[in-house]
Order: sequence, then structure tokens, then C-alpha cells
Amino acid sequence: MSIAAATGAAALGYATVIERNWFVLREQDVPVLPHGATPLRVLHISDLHLTPGRHRLMAFVRSLASLEPDLVVNTGDSIAAPDAIRYLLESLGPLLDRPGVFVYGSNDLFSPKPGNPARYLWRTSAGERNDDEPDLPWEKLGEEMAAAGWLDLNNRRGRLVINGLDLAFTGVHDPHSDRDRYDLVAGQADPAADLRIGVMHSPEPRVLDQFAADGYDLLLAGHTHGGQLCVPGFGALVTNCGIDRARVRGLSLHPQVAPPDRKTAWLHVSAGLGTGPWAPARFACRPEATLLTLVPRPS
Ligand SMILES: [Fe+2]
Repeated sequence: MSIAAATGAAALGYATVIERNWFVLREQDVPVLPHGATPLRVLHISDLHLTPGRHRLMAFVRSLASLEPDLVVNTGDSIAAPDAIRYLLESLGPLLDRPGVFVYGSNDLFSPKPGNPARYLWRTSAGERNDDEPDLPWEKLGEEMAAAGWLDLNNRRGRLVINGLDLAFTGVHDPHSDRDRYDLVAGQADPAADLRIGVMHSPEPRVLDQFAADGYDLLLAGHTHGGQLCVPGFGALVTNCGIDRARVRGLSLHPQVAPPDRKTAWLHVSAGLGTGPWAPARFACRPEATLLTLVPRPS
């Protein structure tokens, strides 16, 4: 075997066996609360793409309950198999007893299809749409999370009071597959709330623009997998959606440069916890959950 082939095989083994299971909890403060408010701890999970055999992923998700977050936000692509819901609920465990909100990703609706896993290296599937009938039990998935008390934010608004903070939520169904109906939830976010949060799966700029224009303070999304196959020192090669590579994961502002009469929103994109079963590799992009600590804005 040549040195190049041996190096490639080693990298593939690392990406599929080690890094894909090398979960990390990323922690991030977000200065978005009113002056004097008590910090709010938000656990942001996304893109589990759970199948029954992913025991290490399930164990990591189970471990997150010890954080005892004030709020859990799930930005979709939770399952990748019809029989994964039971394992998802077991993994979430006590997290389902915390206040929570969720939206779907397109992969909650459709079984994964074989494809070239290396597509993360060169192209995006933005704009692609699957018009087949959904074959995954997405309704059951939503019913189970809603039965636990989590708010279904798929093209809906919702409200929670947590630690005395009045939180106004609006979410959309997956923009990546054009299932978002912002028109159903459009309009100014309630200025009387202490915090206005927009939730979506894919951070498509057309949706981010609408949330920001309607006065939302914090936007939460997943979908990108952080690029999934990244180049050390360079980062993601693709975002798999409309945002730029620099914002493929983590915290940024949207819009990055606001017109004088417009305010900006904070955008947090989760790099997600899983991978599609047909692209089971992550490189220089560890699977993550994020503990966002919302703190008061600087005065
Ligand atoms: Fe995903």
C-alpha cells in the first residue's frame, strides 16, 4: 500500500470510528437578556440522525440531563430510522421533563438514501426537495415530544415563562426542503416579552432575514453539521445551505451588517450530534451539543 493510500485509510478510520463518536459539549454565553435578568441556561441539540445502533451517541445524550438546563431546544433531524423514536425518547430521558421546544428537519420525514458521502467536500444540497410521501413516523415523533410538554414550533408560535422570564417563540418547519411557512407566523415579535426566539432547522438567509426584521433577538438552527468534513486551519468546505462558511457553526450576528433602522439578531448554529447513516464520518468537526448561557445585554 502506498503512503497516500495508507494515510487515506487512516483518516477514514479516524473520521468514521473515532471523531464521529468524540462528542463535545460546547459552552457559549449570549448577551441577549434584559438588564438585570437572571441567566438562562439553554441546551441546544440538533441533527442526531438517530438509528438504534448508535449507543455512544445515546449515552452522550443521556449524560446531558445532568446539566439540568432551564430550556432544551431541538432543531431537528432527530431520527434516521422508523424504529428510532423509542431510543430517542430513552436517550433524552429527564431532558423531556424540562421545558423544551422543537422543529423538524427534512430527515425526520424521509429515510436516508444512499449517496456519495464525499459530497460534503464539494457541493450543497440547498434547494433540493424530496416530493415523495414521507416514510418516517414524523407525526409520532412530534406527538411524543409534545406529549412530554415540549412546544411544537413547526410554523407555529409559542410562549413559555421560565425563571420569571417571558419567552416568545416562533418556529418554522424545515426551510431546506421548502416546508417553512413564515407567512403563517409572520409579524412583529411581541415587544412585551423578555426575549424573542426564532427556531428553524436550516439557517437559510431568507428565513433569518424575516426573523430579524420582525424583531427576534435570538435565532437557533442546525442542519449544517458544521460542514461535517472540514479542513484543519481552513474550516468547512460547504454549509449545505445559504449561509456562508464562516457561520457554519457557532454564534454570529444576523444580518451581519444591519441597516441603520434595523436591529440585528444573534444566530446560533449547532454543528449537530450525528451524521446521516450513508455519510458516517466527521473530520475536524466534532459532534456537539451546546449549552448556551443567556445573559443580560451590556448596558
Ligand atoms: Fe442533519
